[in-house]
Amino acid sequence: MPDASAHTTPSRKKDHVDLCVDADVTHRAKSPGFERVEFLHNALPEIDLDEVSTATTFLGKPASLPLMISSMTGGYDEAERINRELAEVCEELSIPMGVGSQRQALESTAYHESFRIVRKAAPSIAITANIGAAEAAQQDVRDNIHLLIDLVEANALTVHLNPLQELLQPEGTTSFRGVLHGIEQLAASLPIPVIVKEVGAGISASVAQRLLNAGAAVIDVAGAGGTSWAGVELLRNSERAAFDALWDWGIPTVDCLTSIAPLRRDYTFTLVASGGIRSGLDIAKAIGLGADMCAAARVLLQALLHENQDALRARIALWQRQLRAAMFLTGSATIAQLQQAEMAIQPQPTVAKHVR
Ligand SMILES: Cc1cc2nc3c(=O)[nH]c(=O)nc-3n(C[C@H](O)[C@H](O)[C@H](O)COP(=O)(O)O)c2cc1C
Repeated sequence: MPDASAHTTPSRKKDHVDLCVDADVTHRAKSPGFERVEFLHNALPEIDLDEVSTATTFLGKPASLPLMISSMTGGYDEAERINRELAEVCEELSIPMGVGSQRQALESTAYHESFRIVRKAAPSIAITANIGAAEAAQQDVRDNIHLLIDLVEANALTVHLNPLQELLQPEGTTSFRGVLHGIEQLAASLPIPVIVKEVGAGISASVAQRLLNAGAAVIDVAGAGGTSWAGVELLRNSERAAFDALWDWGIPTVDCLTSIAPLRRDYTFTLVASGGIRSGLDIAKAIGLGADMCAAARVLLQALLHENQDALRARIALWQRQLRAAMFLTGSATIAQLQQAEMAIQPQPTVAKHVR
């Protein structure tokens, strides 16, 4: 195994951004599943396009469309510029934003500004703080969590569940015992909601149910079909060949949504769709499947870093136009109406089984 001490948190965070922007780290044989979902075309929409509004709210703040820039970075030199530029666009377009894991900010104050800059650049939007599952399990981290929340004046704390990523990360931690208890403690003690997300392997209905019982207010599925965090870590791992088969491990985003949305019958929660969102039509379909908000990470970061803020703005504006088109064609004047639009869903190609 590689020497874990050779990797500090800041250089890992930089590796992650560099690999996500420059390498092909999408799932190879798995899509998010949006091609299996169609709206039933409404030939009698009985609305004017002008009446369609993509506006919504998230964490009590207005958002111009149900899209947020997902948790990505912070905690090393260049992250300050990246987070500032992402935040400026989010503020301008009035969409929420997450910061990346803030574990490093507990280890050192060196890069606190890379997180603080987000709130400075985006005073009015919803911003989410971020820690990993393994940290949420630790009492000393929970005792200091207010430092991380205060750094970005967060409207919610996101806990990311990433057992696959940690398993394949050369310097990763595989101590996942006590995570649910940690989330329960955070949900009970914090003045802001707790969001629980994956990072690209998805959340099943049974896991979602345990998280909701523990007090999570928001579930962000971060399903398979977009960025493969197994893929990112395999590219950093000298033992790659041994675990290459795990590159595509995970539950496709659409399957997470169709299985978790019915839990609304018994629980009140906000559902976020992410993992491979690549168009306004994907956003529309995710909303039609019951999501309240969508989140995208890698493709938006690529728009910024391969090009610039204008390219990022243009991408989001294009997605908004595509979303509006789908809303018009389903006769949905509001996001709430789009959630009720008629859809046809092809069955999952694979069948879950318990053969005895
Ligand atoms: C460069 C990069 C860094 C990321 N770092 C974090 C992180 O620190 N915390 C987290 O919760 N998710 C992190 N993610 C995961 C994303 O928030 C998201 O769940 C995942 O990439 C799937 O979305 P996508 O297919 O749109 O990329 C990161 C994603 C990218 C691209």
